[in-house]
Amino acid sequence: MKLSVIGCGYLGAVHAAAMASIGHEVVGIDVDERKIAALSAGDAPFFEPGLPELLTQGVAAGNLRFTTDMAEAKGARVHFIGVGTPQQKDGYAADLTYVNAAIDALIPYLNPGDIVAGKSTVPVGTAAVLAERVAPTGATLVWNPEFLREGWAVEDTIDPDRLVVGVPGPSTSSGTQILGGLSDVHAGPSTSSGTQDGGSGAQDSGSGAQDGGPSTSSETQSEGERAADILREVYHPAVAKGTPFIVTDLATAELVKVSANAFLATKISFINAMAEIAEATGADVTQLADAIGHDARIGRRFLGAGIGFGGGCLPKDIRAFAARAEELGRGESVSFLREVDAINLRRRDRAVHLVVDALDGNVVGKKVAVLGAAFKPHSDDIRDSPALDVAVRLRGLGADVTVTDPQAIENARRQHPQLAYSEYRDDALRGADAVLVVTEWDEYRRHLSPEHAATLVAGKVIVDGRNCLDAAAWRADGWAYYGMGRP
Ligand code: UGA
Repeated sequence: MKLSVIGCGYLGAVHAAAMASIGHEVVGIDVDERKIAALSAGDAPFFEPGLPELLTQGVAAGNLRFTTDMAEAKGARVHFIGVGTPQQKDGYAADLTYVNAAIDALIPYLNPGDIVAGKSTVPVGTAAVLAERVAPTGATLVWNPEFLREGWAVEDTIDPDRLVVGVPGPSTSSGTQILGGLSDVHAGPSTSSGTQDGGSGAQDSGSGAQDGGPSTSSETQSEGERAADILREVYHPAVAKGTPFIVTDLATAELVKVSANAFLATKISFINAMAEIAEATGADVTQLADAIGHDARIGRRFLGAGIGFGGGCLPKDIRAFAARAEELGRGESVSFLREVDAINLRRRDRAVHLVVDALDGNVVGKKVAVLGAAFKPHSDDIRDSPALDVAVRLRGLGADVTVTDPQAIENARRQHPQLAYSEYRDDALRGADAVLVVTEWDEYRRHLSPEHAATLVAGKVIVDGRNCLDAAAWRADGWAYYGMGRP
């Protein structure tokens, strides 16, 4: 199928390459000429495992192209919108400038029957407004949120754990949407998913469209059902495999995305709140997480206590969600997200204090090796990185900080030129009075032994900001080990 992907940042570039890899003819469009030149040459403008290979293959095979010319979107059956929605400069709400600009630029090239599939994370209610703007062209706007994780973006795009498509329902005169039975539409082999948790009917086996084909006859098919069927064709490998395919209304689809990120952020802050209590009581939050994580209803994933979450999504998404809820007059419904944010930021303070305390209350002139700059491993993304925030604060207190990271040094240097950087871990460690692990790359977590580190540093002090080290092993080698919420 011919597809266009508007916005070739993290989401868009991966989506374009992944869609080409499953056989579609894809054009990626972006206003940034440098990005387009790099992608056209098969180069990923950021670090993402597996992406360079897909880009090279797609460009060489001829079914993946990149351009700055929006006119090239013409003729595509589905147009994905994957531009960024950053936090506003002067507030918490999402900045929709790029989404609006992408839609404005695309509208002249839409044909009747085209699908415009929004993937950007937007405040609930945005899609309904965009749908009205697109409607006069005869195209249909749907919302198809993306759940990919950086570092696993290719895999998550080709083989996601669920697909969600919000489609327009017939409008009443007041503009309210009615969804005639659409929430029951389900493609692919039937699954029993969701039923144990009292899951919604949306996951019940519905049409039995095992081949991902149309679920109703074309005569009776609504605009939304037709759009959902086209999206099933787009995601054919996942649909064929039985991946849950949830068709819902526009508002629910938008909310699924932000609520998923809000839930993940809450889970992380929950365990970090327990870390704070553990610190006051001598308990060990990592053992606590293991113990509660055995309960299948809770689960161990995203119960990693440490310096907390960062990145281009979780922090800004919970803030934008809270801001949107305020606009809707429902601020109190998600007021806990402000606490989630506050707990998260407090953990960065805690890491700074641990280093200061470990160095007898004064870091001025002390050499601190900061292992990690990216907001998480397998990424060179430093957006709202807790690792760099902690490094910057220590420098602000007078410490002589050297930051190292396997992938993110260049990005970090551009944003924080005042910090010293070392490409090599061991160079950063050399002569350090204290070591701070803030991104749990294997290079630090698995491949750095206390014995080896001891040959390089000036002082055997280690602060494990990600609780990723074997505390007993470091202590056995004579190190002063400090974890987050563990004795
Ligand atoms: C997040 C979501 O996980 C994706 O599902 C979503 O699609 C994406 O945002 C997005 O909205 O685009 P991502 O930002 O790549 O993905 O990162 P996560 O893997 O969620 O990690 C976020 C942060 O939480 C990282 O800083 C990580 O170190 C931290 N984290 C994660 C913890 O502190 N503890 C944990 O147990 C897990």
